[in-house]
Amino acid sequence: MLSRRTVLTGAVALAGCGQSTAQTDATLPPLKSLAPFDLGVCAMTASFKDPQWGPLAATHFDRITPEWEMKMEYILGEDNPINFVEPEKWLRFKAADQILTFAKINGMGMFGHTLVWYAQSAPLFDKLSGDYDNFFDAYQAYIDGVVGHYKGQLTGWDVVNEPMLDDGSGLRDCLWKQVLGEDYILLAFHRAHETDRHTPLFLNDYNLEYYPKKRAAFLRLAERLLKAGVPLHGLGTQTHIDATIAPGMLKAAITDIASLGLKVHVSEVDISLKPEGMVLPGTDLAAGQIRALDEITDAYLQLKPHQQFGMTVWGLRDKDTFPYRKDNSDKPVLFDSTGFAKPLAHAFAERFA
Ligand code: GLA
Repeated sequence: MLSRRTVLTGAVALAGCGQSTAQTDATLPPLKSLAPFDLGVCAMTASFKDPQWGPLAATHFDRITPEWEMKMEYILGEDNPINFVEPEKWLRFKAADQILTFAKINGMGMFGHTLVWYAQSAPLFDKLSGDYDNFFDAYQAYIDGVVGHYKGQLTGWDVVNEPMLDDGSGLRDCLWKQVLGEDYILLAFHRAHETDRHTPLFLNDYNLEYYPKKRAAFLRLAERLLKAGVPLHGLGTQTHIDATIAPGMLKAAITDIASLGLKVHVSEVDISLKPEGMVLPGTDLAAGQIRALDEITDAYLQLKPHQQFGMTVWGLRDKDTFPYRKDNSDKPVLFDSTGFAKPLAHAFAERFA
């Protein structure tokens, strides 16, 4: 639960956000008022110091996903001793609490990302890796502690992030699988659901549009989980793509992922203008970016309304994104680095006109 102090600190931070003097594009209607599904954006608390970030995010988006500060690396970052009784003394919630406060004050939701990820563990779990029983207890206690802290306050949780191998041959190797076996996924979902019965739980992965075999394996996993009675309510397709993506790939992915009838979250959209492969001379990357987002939106709008959980953009302005941070130049999202709406944002808005 949020303490009164956290709420007040957040309110002060927000007051700072309200004094934006930066110029933004008044000709763009609030995107969240146009899209029939929820629009999300990712955030780091550092952005709250920027007077432009808050008002721009709150104007256009319905909800926030913490980009990093809800991951294990942050929450277990201080390596405090396990405390099953008072998880607040063991787990670090400071940053994600600030994001939640910001979201609440602005009438936005917050999506939890992520409980279990192959890419992150913590010294605690490394130390316990030879001791199944204590590892199992700590794993359950971690999920319990984090889900419990935010119980009833989130729009959903990415319970397991990126479990699949790219070649479609199955689950990736990771500490969780090494110690707990493939059931690490099932365990995480059950535990999260026991702790918070009403928050939808998601399995999330990337490259599902580029690698149909990976997508098929991802869907097989989801089906197995459902058959085993696992409380899996939605599937996330991250959608980190580039502007040269072939027409049809995004639609095929979204349609396929929806075929199980679960909620679908297009969960981390960015469309890079710096493709890794060869780009044919004369390729209009900006037009490709608009086309790709169009295809995502069109495919998404064709899903049953109850499956349209939402679309989340992975960064508010170009400079806030992961592709931009790689070389200080990519332009993968709706607003440019000064906060001005790009033609991409206007084209997106026009889909709903
Ligand atoms: C993956 C993760 C995200 C984030 C991005 C890079 O997609 O799911 O949380 O770390 O990588 O920004």
